[in-house]
Amino acid sequence: MQELMQKFQEIFGGEGDIRSYFAPGRVNLIGEHTDYNGGHVFPCALTIGTYGLARRRDDNKLRFYSANFSKLGVIESSLDDLVPSDKAGWTNYPKGVMWTFEKRGYKLTSGVDFLIYGNIPNGSGLSSSASLEVLTGVMLKDLFGFEELSMQDLALIGQYSENNFNGMNCGIMDQFASAMGKKDCAIFLDTSTLEYEYAPVKLADAKIVITNSKVKHSLVGSAYNDRRNECEAALKDLQAVVDIKSLGDLSEEEYEANKDAIKDPVCRKRAKHAVYENQRTIKAVQALKDNRVDEFGKLMNASHVSLRDDYEVSCEEIDILVDLAWQLPGVVGSRITGGGFGGCTVSIVKNDAVDNFIETIGKKYKEKVGHEAEFYVVEIGNGAGKLS
Ligand code: GLA
Repeated sequence: MQELMQKFQEIFGGEGDIRSYFAPGRVNLIGEHTDYNGGHVFPCALTIGTYGLARRRDDNKLRFYSANFSKLGVIESSLDDLVPSDKAGWTNYPKGVMWTFEKRGYKLTSGVDFLIYGNIPNGSGLSSSASLEVLTGVMLKDLFGFEELSMQDLALIGQYSENNFNGMNCGIMDQFASAMGKKDCAIFLDTSTLEYEYAPVKLADAKIVITNSKVKHSLVGSAYNDRRNECEAALKDLQAVVDIKSLGDLSEEEYEANKDAIKDPVCRKRAKHAVYENQRTIKAVQALKDNRVDEFGKLMNASHVSLRDDYEVSCEEIDILVDLAWQLPGVVGSRITGGGFGGCTVSIVKNDAVDNFIETIGKKYKEKVGHEAEFYVVEIGNGAGKLS
């Protein structure tokens, strides 16, 4: 923080009231691609995320600086120019949040100087963009005194800006986890009502290990939006025969009894995943509460198979990581996490097996794929907020 403060002063000048904030990334333990299908998710906030320093200005200008992209220097804009553009690069995220504030009647009465630094590996699927959106929300709420906005409101504003300003039709999971996270707990969130419950992640003698495949396929955004559309088509077909609002309303049995109403076989597979994954998530949270960690792990594995075969959001490199993990002793469960098409896996690994996990998978992955994977043994942290 001290270094960042120095940087801020060097770039924007040291006078006035400079405030600091943090918003975490997230990892989802189970409940993937259910959040835009009215299902349940089970993410937790990480201790890595995005830091921000900000100060109000006397004029309408917006000046942005990312310590991750120092070569880009200061990117200037203004409150009169809150429109997405390619050349705005990463600043499209904070600008989208500012645009959403204004659209909702939260008038920003001056510009800001805003410096950020993130330690979430870029493009890893650990929600660096959601953390930046939530960070911006926390910063604007504080700098402009919008006390009435709750953390949940800031999550919804972040999602709205990502959908409508940045063109990615994401659900609420990532922003919700970043805003609402709680140390050592995962959030069991019903995305159809936004009712949620914190569940302590008590893994006894095991840890959460994230493995970064270090691949990101370029079709991420468009393929994600395709999945959403396929689920919507399936829902529409089903609504001709059952009275449901979302795929999350169906049990496995109800899905099986009505699946023939879905005309397109691809859409049928997508819906199958959404229904079964939602039920798996409910079962997994119960297993965790009952200290049946092995059962939790088995459900994680089944989640991966479904994401690989029915939802088709995995890729070769990720399947290699998961297959290697499944073969190792001390691995309770392992699956792809996040939006997919690259990014990370999440595994639950017994304490005394972690070193071997990292060494063996690290070596074999490099042999098979040609580049290194990265491993993070993670802690579950709190949601976003102002730093003192
Ligand atoms: C991305 C989206 C989330 C969610 C996941 C898949 O991270 O931003 O809303 O849909 O993919 O579970």
